Amino acid sequence: MQAPVARVLLSGEAIARRVAELGAEISRDYAGRDLLLVTVLKGGLYFLADLSRALTIPAAVDVMAISSYRGGKGPSGVVRLIKDLDEDVTGRSVLLVEDIIDTGLTATYLVRLLRARDPADLAICTLLDKSARRIAEGLPIRYRGFDVPDEYLVGYGLDYRQLYRTLPYIAVLDAERAAPGGAGARVR
Ligand code: IMP
Repeated sequence: MQAPVARVLLSGEAIARRVAELGAEISRDYAGRDLLLVTVLKGGLYFLADLSRALTIPAAVDVMAISSYRGGKGPSGVVRLIKDLDEDVTGRSVLLVEDIIDTGLTATYLVRLLRARDPADLAICTLLDKSARRIAEGLPIRYRGFDVPDEYLVGYGLDYRQLYRTLPYIAVLDAERAAPGGAGARVR
């Protein structure tokens, strides 16, 4: 696929190796528990599909959809629930599976929402951690695939204006080429 990427950050092979490691770790930690994997449409789907297949223990999966508003001054943390979970989380071990945690405001909203439903325990597994941009504090991130630099990334679920999610690797977007004719792409 012709994609406007400046450079590949994580190859498909590197992602697959790390996902296998995370799957093994989660399988050890959650053995014998009632594990529910939860992700957020649409970006989390790709990681959830691979991570869940790297588990050696039974797990249920569920998805939710949200929309977040990002004003001109950057992330607002204002999130609206568009599709709720089908599963009841009460008394279960919930693992929130995220593609990327950036400011952490979205994850903060999700953690608050899920905790209010009394899970037995709640933790986060994020494939990518853009930790340099973190605003939110105290997120229960128990598993992280890679720490990534403060650049706009696409691929493996991450989109730019709904495109490039389907790339099998993770790359830095070339903002100029992504928005030809424009004065540089607005990527946030
Ligand atoms: P946060 O609330 O700032 O942590 O934002 C999390 C959400 O922002 C992610 O689930 C993504 O949808 C989006 N996001 C953050 N960084 C990137 C990126 O580099 N590429 C694509 N989407 C991103």
